[in-house]
Amino acid sequence: MSELTAGATVSADPSTGFGLAGKVALVTGAASGIGRATAELLARMGVKVTAVDINGKGLAGIDVGDSGVTDVADLSVPRACDQVVASLLARERRLDILVNCAAILKRVPITEVDAALWEKLMDANLLSQFAMCRAASRPMRKQGSGRIVVISSTAAFNGGADNSSVYAIGKGGSLALAKSMARQLASHGVTVNAICPGGIDTPMGRSGFTEESWNAHYARNVPLRRAGQPEEVAKAILFLVSDWGSYVTGHTLDVEGGLLLR
Ligand SMILES: NC(=O)c1ccc[n+]([C@@H]2O[C@H](COP(=O)([O-])OP(=O)(O)OC[C@H]3O[C@@H](n4cnc5c(N)ncnc54)[C@H](O)[C@@H]3O)[C@@H](O)[C@H]2O)c1
Repeated sequence: MSELTAGATVSADPSTGFGLAGKVALVTGAASGIGRATAELLARMGVKVTAVDINGKGLAGIDVGDSGVTDVADLSVPRACDQVVASLLARERRLDILVNCAAILKRVPITEVDAALWEKLMDANLLSQFAMCRAASRPMRKQGSGRIVVISSTAAFNGGADNSSVYAIGKGGSLALAKSMARQLASHGVTVNAICPGGIDTPMGRSGFTEESWNAHYARNVPLRRAGQPEEVAKAILFLVSDWGSYVTGHTLDVEGGLLLR
């Protein structure tokens, strides 16, 4: 293989789990919603999954198979992110995949946002993604391979739902984080991509809606006329972290039923 084709994977076969069997993955925000669906889908593909969340009770119900483990941590604290990666490396000796799903949403009018709320949201949503990417990229660089996915949001493009400016600003930061990491890690065989979900049927997605307003909102505003399911985002993530996404880096993949169509 020449230097120019090194790292290329050209023979992905879906019957072998998209080249994922035996890989080692860390999924954050895995107690709920998109993170949980992703952790469970990867585990079904034969990936050894470490599912991390601040919510230990929520993690208890996850199905990541016999080789999967759970880890309770507050990822808004960078030291905790380092610790999560260090424990995983002590067990597995390598890290192939990082998926950053953990986040919180608080709806407050921008004029009423104080420094404490700004810090809380930015730490949980953006600092946590940065610290996880930084910690995971160290072993990936040494291995000369790795896949990182950062979950942003359509809020990064349209300013987000009412009163969610700080969330939207953080999600804009997630996009810049993914692109900047992609640029710096490409020569080490590590891809970094962002996913922008639109409205997805999770506890966060449904916050602020009644059943009636939820259905009416999607029928009116989304070309596919419905919200997405967490598993539909998990499948897009699977593409990016599998052999099938081997030549994709620095990309933003919108999974939003056409919400951003202009
Ligand atoms: N649901 C949507 O409509 C939607 C739309 C766009 C983007 N997103 C993004 O998708 C990702 C997943 O969201 P979801 O809808 O599945 O939300 P969710 O609320 O169902 O899950 C988020 C998980 O993150 C965990 N978490 C929050 N703060 C944490 C911390 N400090 N440390 C560790 N874990 C923490 C929560 O406990 C929770 O289990 C988020 O990044 C979110 O911003 C969601």
